[in-house]
Amino acid sequence: MTAVTGGPSLPQERKLVTSIPGPKSQELLARKNAAVASGVGVALPVSIVAAGGGVMVDVDGNSLIDLGSGIAVTGVGNSAPAVVEAVTNQVQQFTHTCFTVTPYEGYVAVAEKLNEVTPGDHEKRSALFNSGAEAVENAIKIARHYTKKNAVVVFDHAYHGRTNLTMGMTAKNIPYKDGFGPFAPEVYRVPTSYPFRDGLSGADAASVALSQIEKQVGAGNLAAIIIEPIQGEGGFIAPAEGFLPALQEWATANNVVFILDEVQTGFARTGDLFAANHEGVVPDLVTTAKGIAGGLPLSAVTGRAEIMDSAHAGGLGGTYAGSPIACAAALATIDTYERENLTERAREIGAIIDDFFGELQKSDDRIGDIRGRGAMKAIELVESGSQKPAAALTGAIAKAAGEQAVVVLTCGTFGNVIRFLPPLSISDELLREGLQVVADALAAN
Ligand SMILES: Cc1ncc(COP(=O)(O)O)c(C=O)c1O
Repeated sequence: MTAVTGGPSLPQERKLVTSIPGPKSQELLARKNAAVASGVGVALPVSIVAAGGGVMVDVDGNSLIDLGSGIAVTGVGNSAPAVVEAVTNQVQQFTHTCFTVTPYEGYVAVAEKLNEVTPGDHEKRSALFNSGAEAVENAIKIARHYTKKNAVVVFDHAYHGRTNLTMGMTAKNIPYKDGFGPFAPEVYRVPTSYPFRDGLSGADAASVALSQIEKQVGAGNLAAIIIEPIQGEGGFIAPAEGFLPALQEWATANNVVFILDEVQTGFARTGDLFAANHEGVVPDLVTTAKGIAGGLPLSAVTGRAEIMDSAHAGGLGGTYAGSPIACAAALATIDTYERENLTERAREIGAIIDDFFGELQKSDDRIGDIRGRGAMKAIELVESGSQKPAAALTGAIAKAAGEQAVVVLTCGTFGNVIRFLPPLSISDELLREGLQVVADALAAN
């Protein structure tokens, strides 16, 4: 097949020319099954050849509406022109030196930018890595080094990654942890705030969590509390107002490093550059990745200078950490969020999703909850007349939507949440069409 160029100039349409997956995608799936380890699953087995705006085009010529952004990565859109240009220029200059061998400006410029745009106006430092999990691991390393304490508190429904430490920090067993232990010690899990299911105010949920921390861990042993400001893989759980500020206040009063994991929520996704800003929470450290670099692998830990600088030279790094190509992409990406006012666009997208499902919920009580912020929205599906999670229904809807050329992702500890993470470059028309396909699937199941 001739190459199709991606980016926003791709026809912005949903188009089915074969059933999904089409014959060429099925050929690739057969090759994948023979060559790729089974543990690497795929949600929708279509073989993508180009993407941009709000669509992905597969090898059979189908054009799919993208409501997932490769799990919240391509906020600026796939092959966004500014990112393509920055990466192309960088690749022509040099591809790699290893920043900790011979440094380069792109890394420093990304650190300067992160120090400027992340929550809080205190003096900051940043360190760059490759993946979200790596950023989380390093945030914990730094917090332990700074406090000279060991314990880490994480929350029910948390997701922090797939490395050994971050698997241990992640709540859900299948598929993330099962059989992969033993996990690192000194990780303690406490209840989160889950308004749909616990009915607690933010202050009450925080007092449950903090009392458990005090009784079972002890502030004197605790290096860090880490939480996603909206829990992502766990079900797009936005805590009740006041929960995060109460945790932060307690951490500050107890010499505990308060870390926000903004790997999924960061960079305009929630309608602000960072989800922490909605409640004015200022973390000591923040981890970022995903939306930071328009699809190139990059992550970061940013935070208070005195904490970040506590680790000795050589203690932080990695061969590819802060790759010059990813840094060039990040600078172009962050500039695009600002230049195109994509935080505002995320809020508009959120309003469309809220209105759409709000209307539907009036006649379908299986939509138990509609939640999230900005373009990070979800519906939690339950059995009619109850709060019992409807996981089979959720899976069936995602499958049916995929077959109708709409890519949607599921999540949630109970597997009953459909999440919407469209690229912020999607048009209103495509977004509405995609939502309608999901609604039709719901009606048919
Ligand atoms: C909140 C959060 N933290 C960490 C991670 C891990 O990031 P990565 O998959 O880049 O290692 C994710 C990925 O989904 C995430 O959502």
